[in-house]
Order: sequence, then C-alpha cells, then structure tokens
Amino acid sequence: MNAAALPGSSDTAPFIAVTGGTGLLGSYLVRDLLVAGRNVALVVRRDRKRSAATRVEAVVRHWEETLETSLPRPVVLEGDLAQPFCGLAEEDRQWLHWNCSALLHNAASLSFRGADRAAEPWLTNVTGTAHAIDLARAADIEHFHHVSTAYVCGLREGTVLEDDLDVGQPFGNDYETSKCAAEKMVREAGFESATVYRPSIIVGDSETGYTSTYHGFFAGLRLGHTLLTRVAKGSTSGPALLALIGVNQADRKNFVPVDWVSAVIAHAVQTPGARGRTYHLTHPDPLSMRTVGRIIQEAVETFSVAASPDDPDRCDERWFADNLRSQLDVYQSYFRNDPVFDRRHTESLASHLPCPPLDDPTLLRMSQFAIECDFGRRPTRATSPSGVAAS
Ligand SMILES: NC(=O)c1ccc[n+]([C@@H]2O[C@H](COP(=O)([O-])OP(=O)(O)OC[C@H]3O[C@@H](n4cnc5c(N)ncnc54)[C@H](OP(=O)(O)O)[C@@H]3O)[C@@H](O)[C@H]2O)c1
Repeated sequence: MNAAALPGSSDTAPFIAVTGGTGLLGSYLVRDLLVAGRNVALVVRRDRKRSAATRVEAVVRHWEETLETSLPRPVVLEGDLAQPFCGLAEEDRQWLHWNCSALLHNAASLSFRGADRAAEPWLTNVTGTAHAIDLARAADIEHFHHVSTAYVCGLREGTVLEDDLDVGQPFGNDYETSKCAAEKMVREAGFESATVYRPSIIVGDSETGYTSTYHGFFAGLRLGHTLLTRVAKGSTSGPALLALIGVNQADRKNFVPVDWVSAVIAHAVQTPGARGRTYHLTHPDPLSMRTVGRIIQEAVETFSVAASPDDPDRCDERWFADNLRSQLDVYQSYFRNDPVFDRRHTESLASHLPCPPLDDPTLLRMSQFAIECDFGRRPTRATSPSGVAAS
C-alpha cells in the first residue's frame, strides 16, 4: 500500500475502492474519478513483470499525458480476486475499513466459455465477486457498486426492464451465466446500498477511437481485416461477411462507447440519490447488423492492406472459412438480435449525459484505431493505459 493506514486518518473525504482499474472500462473510471477530485484506491494484481503499483502508475501517467495535466495518485492495494478477501494483506483491509465507504467492483473475466467452475470466467466473476463482497463486508463498506452486463438477460426477447434479473431465462454463454450469478449475489448481500451498472457491448472512445479490448464489434472487424490481409481485396463485402458469420442483417446490436459508460458510472457513484438502483447503460439507438457489416467493409477497404497476389502467406477463401469461422464460433451467441433494454433509470439519472451517437465517422475512427494497432499487437498513436501494447 502506498498510503499510511492510520485508524481515524480519514479526516479527508472517504475513498472509493475500485477493482479492475487496469482494464478498458476501469482505466476510464480511474480517469473520471481522479479528474472529479475523488480519493481513489485501486485493488490491482501484479502481472508477470510488474507490481500492482507500477501498473497503476502506467494508467495514471497515460491519462496525465493525454489530458496534459497532473493527477493525484490512487492508493494501491495489491490483490487478486481469486483469493479470499481479494488477497489483501491485513494491513490493507484495516486501511479499507478506516478510509473507504464504497467499493466499485468492476473487474471481471470476459472469457465467454469455460466448463470448469474453478476456472474462468467463473473464478473471477462468481468466486471473485463473493470475495469482493466478503472484503467489503469485513471492512464495513456500506455502498457496493457493481459493474454487471446488459446480457444478464441471456437470450430473452422483447423488453427487459432494469429491475429484471433472473426470470428463468436461458443464457448464450458461460460469461452471461456467471455475470447473472454475480449480480444476484450482490443484490442479496445486504449492503446499505447495492447499485448495479449494466453496459451493453462496450466499444472504443467516442472521441479518440481508443480501445484496449477487441470483443463484439471488433471481432467482426478483425474478421474482415484478416480476410483482406490474408486473402484478397474484394472478398470483404459486408453482406458476405455477415453471411459467413451467420447473422441476420436486420438484427440489431447494442454498442456503447467506453467514455460514456465511465462518465455515467462516475456520476452515479458520486450521487447519493442514485444508489440502490440498476442502470441499463445501453444505447438508445442500437445498430443494425447491416450497418455493422457496411462499416466493417468500409473500414477494412480504407485502413487494411490487401494481400498481394505474390504474397507467399496468401490463403484461399476456403482456408479462411475453415479457420476463422471456427475461431469466431465463440461469438455466435452475441451475433443475435438484442432485446429492447428499457433505460428509464439511466435516463432519469443522467439526462445531462446523452450517449454519443455511433455514426459512421465515430465507428470508422474506432476501426482505424484497432486496425492501426493490429488489434493490440502493435503500439499506435496513443499508448495503452496499461503501458504496453494492448493484448
Ligand atoms: N467490454 C464489454 O463489452 C463489456 C460489456 C458489458 C459489461 N462489461 C463489464 O465491464 C467490466 C469491465 O470490463 P472491461 O471491458 O473493462 O474488461 P477488461 O478490459 O478485460 O478489464 C478487466 C479488468 O478486471 C481485472 N481482473 C480480472 N480478473 C481479476 C482478478 N482475478 N483479480 C484482480 N483483477 C482482475 C483485470 O485485471 P488485469 O489487468 O490484471 O487482467 C482488468 O483490470 C466487467 O465487469 C465486464 O463484465 C464489459
């Protein structure tokens, strides 16, 4: 820990503890809370090369460079959600007790499939959430904020209300099942308030295009990009791509920019009247898959470099169909028509924060960013907040 753990040292405003601060959404939450002047403590694990403190420093420095301003340093609590009490040392748990009034539990595994309940996504999403709840309870934290997903609705159709959770719905993958189980635990844990945020599919920054993860929209984009760079120009028509993935062009998908999701959550955690409710952080205007296919086509034809006929690595389309379609199989459960996410709670909370439109220029900017950094394999104009090329 990088701050004195003194009982009663909280003569300053209480801290908010945040998990998952090194991830895509988490790094934006760190930015928005620090910029708002909140005292922030981050529960972060070390990685193979870097301590938690070094990783957090990289996140804050990224924002200092981007915003061209200096920011206060969060308190760093090194821990792993897979461990009881998130693996926090006794000293750090005591510090939480004396200094924190709220925990924003944002960390999760985004692995879609896992049969072994002792492995991902179950380990972080279910066991890890139980550990976060235990930690908060032991530290007498009153307000638990939980980042869930709109897809706890599973395969439901029609309209899904923000107060709905388990209505016996089937799920599309283990990730959705695990996140639904986690949200249930949070709601039933008996905190003074439990506030739940349910984003739909998070895409990049609406202004810069930045992202560090490449799910959903970016999986389709990567498919088109790979096709163009390994096969040949002209093979990437949007409808052809969609047919290959197996989606209906009339289906609608709900995408939201990461900066907006973070802005609404940061506003909610600082608004006492917002506590205790569930918020669909979803776009009021979902995109049709026809639009998604058209954007992917335009993006790869503009930003990707097509395979040349004498490229020894050039493959035929059969190779592509055999290999990439099986890799994309895991996303099949997402390439389906979304229900209508009722968002009345979100509208009443954040009418001053309208969700930015995902128009063609915005989606193309995000696509350009992803293609330029080769979907995280190459650094691009902005370095990743994690301090390395995103993976
Ligand atoms: N991305 C989406 O489309 C989407 C949509 C709806 C909801 N959500 C929800 O939004 C939240 C943030 O997602 P994201 O897209 O920002 O994901 P992300 O970029 O993959 O970040 C996940 C974060 O969780 C941390 N984490 C995972 N397992 C951990 C563990 N065992 N101990 C400590 N930290 C751990 C990661 O730490 P490391 O850096 O150490 O790995 C990382 O900071 C999640 O709750 C997710 O379910 C995401």
